[in-house]
Parts: sequence; structure tokens; C-alpha cells
Amino acid sequence: MTSSLWTADEIIAATGAQCFGDGNDITGTSIDTRTIQNGDLFFALAGDARDGHDFVVNALANGAGAAMVSLSRAEGLKSAGRLFAVPGDVLEGMQKLAVAARNRAKGPVIAVTGSVGKTGTKEALKLVLSRQAPTHASVASYNNHWGVPLTLTRAPRDTFYGIYEIGMNHALEIVPLTKLVRPNIAIITTVAPVHLEFFKSIADIADAKAEIFEGIEAGGTVILPMDSPYFERLKMHASASRAGRILSFGEGEKADIRAIRIDTTSEYSDVVVSVFGREISYRIGSPGKHVALNSLAVLAAVFAASGNVDDAADALIDLVPPAGRGERLILGSEKAPFLLVDESYNANPASMRAALANLGMVDLSGKGRRIAVLGAMGELGPQGPELHKELAQSIIESGVNLVFAAGSLMKNLVDALPENIVAAYAESSEGLIESLNATVQAHDAVMVKGSLSSKMGLIVSSLKERHGVVGSSAMHGSTLGQP
Ligand SMILES: Nc1ncnc2c1ncn2[C@@H]1O[C@H](COP(=O)(O)OP(=O)(O)O)[C@@H](O)[C@H]1O
Ligand SMILES: [Mg+2]
Repeated sequence: MTSSLWTADEIIAATGAQCFGDGNDITGTSIDTRTIQNGDLFFALAGDARDGHDFVVNALANGAGAAMVSLSRAEGLKSAGRLFAVPGDVLEGMQKLAVAARNRAKGPVIAVTGSVGKTGTKEALKLVLSRQAPTHASVASYNNHWGVPLTLTRAPRDTFYGIYEIGMNHALEIVPLTKLVRPNIAIITTVAPVHLEFFKSIADIADAKAEIFEGIEAGGTVILPMDSPYFERLKMHASASRAGRILSFGEGEKADIRAIRIDTTSEYSDVVVSVFGREISYRIGSPGKHVALNSLAVLAAVFAASGNVDDAADALIDLVPPAGRGERLILGSEKAPFLLVDESYNANPASMRAALANLGMVDLSGKGRRIAVLGAMGELGPQGPELHKELAQSIIESGVNLVFAAGSLMKNLVDALPENIVAAYAESSEGLIESLNATVQAHDAVMVKGSLSSKMGLIVSSLKERHGVVGSSAMHGSTLGQP
């Protein structure tokens, strides 16, 4: 028995590869030479612009234990190091290795999809389950045609719980991914207008999310958002699948995992939940009602996986929002601090509203201002202008004092806001940097959010650089604005 990830024999058996050259067992897998680790198997995937075969020499020189290449390309690369040469294309080889990885899973496999909340739910599951048994989960949002199989190939031998994020932009994208993952438990977090440009209606999105049931193991458990207008539709799809059980979560009276109370502050939430009628209370170390709602799905999955639900609930106090996804930093100085909420990783109408509501809850102790720095939300199709405009209401309801907006779609919002709220508008995020830096004062709360394409991260970096990071707001409690 070996503690390595893959032996050469296993790779050959799984993929039909021919092996050229010698080497040690594989200890990791990668598709990116920039992050390659010693002992990794490098998959030479063909991308849109570049071909991974052009990076094989580099990967092997940087410590990769071997590279998986197409047989047709092997001849010219043999001298660079160990090769596993597959008859078809390398993506197919990686998928075959993923199948072998799935076949050796020891415990429940959980798949997470949904319009928003996949990564957050996946991370929360990882946090709570890894305290109960060896747990393997997707890195970041590795949820697509390469991210899912790559993640499978990385599952250590001793993995008990496997957690896989599955995403999509198009109908039928989830089908092959769920068939690779073959979940015992499938979660749909939400159905919302994200990636609307590729769908006629939200009902179509619901149908596409329901594709996840096509790969579910016989008798598996489906976990669905009870409060979604598409709940019945999802349930219908689940009932037609091989799933043996459907669990619901939400605030609705009939939900199996039901939120009885959610008390959110700007830094954490206290939640009382009924799990099949049994009440449990816990604190989540990450703010936002949406995080609390996602936690219901997390507990449902722990229950379905026969884990310890109470321990899982207790562990959620250690959940903290990562950079770009709500990370809270104190900038400035101890004496003159201000809060930065970094939501720059992505945005859509649902998550914008959630983040604005959260900004509205920050305790300013009467001193600072609520400043929303918003970049355009991408991939919304023809409804984009309207969906931007509609944010005006949330902004007013949250008591936001100043709005900085970037990107032409955001012009629709700017035009819908009272003039005194609009601090600045620019075509691109760079255009806001000077005015924002000049405006921010001690005790303000600044929330920066936009789609990744809107590059709001540049604003976050500049704020950090110019004002300095004093610490995380978790360290400082809610002392912002207080003596
Ligand atoms: N249930 C939810 N409802 C509304 N917004 C949510 C929900 N869950 C997460 N979000 C917000 O959506 C954004 C994306 O969250 P994330 O967990 O990364 O989702 P995904 O992986 O599906 O893109 C974040 O801003 C997050 O705060
Ligand atoms: Mg994600």
C-alpha cells in the first residue's frame, strides 16, 4: 500500500496510456505550470489559445513527476521526462483518471450546484466535514469541464467525504460533470438570474441545474431550496431521477431543515434551525442571511452523509469569508480605522442585494458613512440595464450614503439614484481610484463589489496599498467607529 496519489500502474490501467521513462509515484495533479508542485502529474490540456503540450518541457523542468500527453505528441517530448501518452486527447485521459478516482471513493460524495452559493456552500461543507473525517473538496471555483475532473484526480486515497462544485453557463454542461462525480448527495443552492444571456428564462436555468440529478447514485439524496419559486420544478426533476430521497431547506414552514430564526449582524449570524423538528442553535462566523440559508443546505448534507449534525453546526463559527468574497479588513490606522468589505470576486443581482443589505447592517456608531463601490455585473444579457437599475432600491433601503460606480451598465443605476448619493461614475474601475481614495475617511464602511470582469480588485488593492491593512475585522470585533 502506498500513500502516493497515483502509481504508474494505476494511471496506465485507468487511461490506457503508454508510459515512457521512469519515476516515482505521482503525488498531485495539475494543469498549470505556474503552480506546479514536485511530483505532480501535469495534464497537457489543449486550451482555446494555447496547447498544454507546449508547456510539458517546462512542467517537467519545474518538478512535475510526469506529464500526460497525446500519443501523437509523445515522440518529441520523451527526452524531457516521464510521459503517460494517451491514445485520445488529454482531457479524455484526465476524465478517465477521474473515473478511477471516483471508483475508489470510500465515503459519501457530495455535489454542489446552483446559481449562487456554490463555493460558499462547498467551503462551509469542507470546514465542517473535515473535522469529522478526511475530506477532499474542489479548490476555488474549479467547477467546469476541466475543474471537476481535475479535482477528482486530486482526491487523496484516504478521502472519506468528497465535495465537488459543479457549475454551468449552458444547458447540458452539467450532465457529463455529474456523471463523473456520481454524487450520493446533490445540492442545488439557489436558482437565480445568473448567466441569463444563455437562457430564455429562469425556469430554463432551473431545468439546467436539475441536470445534476442525472448522475446521482441510485438511492442518493437530493437537497433543494424550499423557498425558491422553482422548488416544485426541481422536485419534479429529482423525483424522476434515481434519487431515493429529497430533503428541503429554507425558511418555509414545511422545510425539513428549517430556519426558525436568523439574526444577522455585519460580522456573524446566530441561527436557530429545526432539523426534522429538532431545534439546534449555532453561530456562523461569516455574515449575511444568504450564508445562513446556505448553512441549512450544509446541515442537510451532513445529515444525509450520516455525519454529526450538531458538531457541524458548532464548527460553523469558524467560517470566515475569503478575499474577494466578503473578506472584511480594517484599513487606515488603529486610531483612524475604516472597514473594507472586499466582494470584488463576483457579482450578480442576488449577491449585490445581499452585499448591500450587509453594508446596511455595519455598526458605524454614528460616525462613518456607508460607501458602495460597484462595478458592472456581467453575463446578464438583454435584461442587464434593467437589473442594474433595480439595485437603486436596495441601495436606498440599506442607507448607503455614497455610491461609486464603474462600467457602462452601471450608468443605468447611476441615473436611477438620487444625485446626492452618487459620488463618482467612471467607465472603468481605474477611473474611480483617485476619487475614492480622496473620499474615504476614518470610520467609513466601504464595500467593493462587481463581476470579475469589472476589475474591482484593482480598487481593493489600491485602498490596501494607500491606507494600509491594520487587521481583519474579526480581530477587531465591531470596534469600527467605537472608541
Ligand atoms: N443563497 C444565496 N443567495 C444570494 N446570494 C448568495 C447566496 N449564496 C452566496 N451568495 C453570494 O453570491 C456570491 C457568489 O457566492 P459563491 O458562493 O462564490 O457562489 P458561486 O460559487 O455559485 O458563484 C457571493 O457574493 C455570495 O455572497
Ligand atoms: Mg463558485
